[in-house]
Amino acid sequence: MSTFIILIFMCAAQVGAKIYSHYHLFKVIPQNQFQLTGLKAMFEDGDYKIDFWIAPSSVNRTTEFLVPPSYVSRVKGILHSLDAETHILNKNIQEVIDQENEEQAHNGSQYTAYASNSVTDKYASYNEIKNLLHSYETKYKHLSVIKFGKSFEGRDLVAIKFSTGPGKRVIFVESGMHCREWISIASSLKIIERMATTLGQDPEIDELLRLYDWIFVPTVNPDGYYYTHNFDRMWRKNRRPINFFCTGTDLNRNFAAGWGGPGASPNPCNPTFRGTSVFSEPEAKALASFVKLVQPIAFFSVHAYSQYIMTPYGYTYKKPADSMELTHLAHKAAAAIKAVNGLKFTVGTPPELLYIATGGAYDWAKLEANVKYSYAFELRPTQSYGNGFLLPKRNIKPSSLELFAALKTFAKGFYNR
Ligand SMILES: *[C@@H]1O[C@H](CO)[C@@H](O)[C@H](O)[C@H]1NC(C)=O
Ligand SMILES: [Zn+2]
Repeated sequence: MSTFIILIFMCAAQVGAKIYSHYHLFKVIPQNQFQLTGLKAMFEDGDYKIDFWIAPSSVNRTTEFLVPPSYVSRVKGILHSLDAETHILNKNIQEVIDQENEEQAHNGSQYTAYASNSVTDKYASYNEIKNLLHSYETKYKHLSVIKFGKSFEGRDLVAIKFSTGPGKRVIFVESGMHCREWISIASSLKIIERMATTLGQDPEIDELLRLYDWIFVPTVNPDGYYYTHNFDRMWRKNRRPINFFCTGTDLNRNFAAGWGGPGASPNPCNPTFRGTSVFSEPEAKALASFVKLVQPIAFFSVHAYSQYIMTPYGYTYKKPADSMELTHLAHKAAAAIKAVNGLKFTVGTPPELLYIATGGAYDWAKLEANVKYSYAFELRPTQSYGNGFLLPKRNIKPSSLELFAALKTFAKGFYNR
């Protein structure tokens, strides 16, 4: 009987959710300028029915995009007229979302004895994350939960700080700015769990905390994250309404770093909308104030997907004066990741690897907040894996170990300089 009631509850929770039945995931690699221009026109189209997971940037670089069933034949027609080689990676993305929902539901609920541990083995909700952080604060030493602001909808923006003694510089790690990139949040949370629960027993963790204090903000965009869990799995932006028709700003386009330039849209309906002004969004503004207060030695933005470690800058092809040093360390971190599970992470700047993107948080940290070591990760999977953001939860543990290996390598690298 109780299972039955839980089932009804779960169905009710899904009632308002956007359904992606027969949405097709396309992959196209433009092979010439003509094809690239065509794809860019689709990207910038006023209709925005096409959701680009990997935006078009230059010739020979992959694009991936999700197309509603009613547009599939039209999009195929356009691609045909461009003579572009087209791959359809998935013909019904809802099936993958359904599998994910099922996986999520079978976590701990039948095994209540393990429920408290299992929060970090699935894609935890905002409330579960917040409660977990508070429970760590009650249970363990050397850590504290910091509220550094509120989201537009009034959720607390929470950080967890690890510190085993005074006078240390801070390494700052934020994730979830793009809320559909669930693996970035879960990977960070699993590192937090390890730090909290094994501090004093795990020599690797003790070493990291001997060198630095660590601050993690696992969900910078809690409203958006809540929205991906309850209403639209593919939502990317925050949830502040901009006009009668369109809601949300891309928080990672809202920072004071080349704001208003290319790679961010002025259109509020676009998934990469830059905001109505620099720091128009409470989440971006609060994070920036917090970073300025903390003055970290290093700042990491954790995103997904593509398996990249990105060095500054994203807003321009120009590089900072110490670019060689930052890139050298990034290659060491990529090697450390490879040693974990054999995955290849590519090092470069966003314009080299993806596209120019203005208004990004890690550019801002380097340019405006005087943070020497500023990086952005794109975690697993690779492009062309097929389901991009919809990564089965068995990936959480290996992905967190990869991220941990990279952070550890960076931390030692900074210290030895
Ligand atoms: C794209 O790839 C093809 C085949 O490898 C190559 O011939 C061409 O020069 C490349 N074009 C650009 C702009 O990189
Ligand atoms: Zn992202």
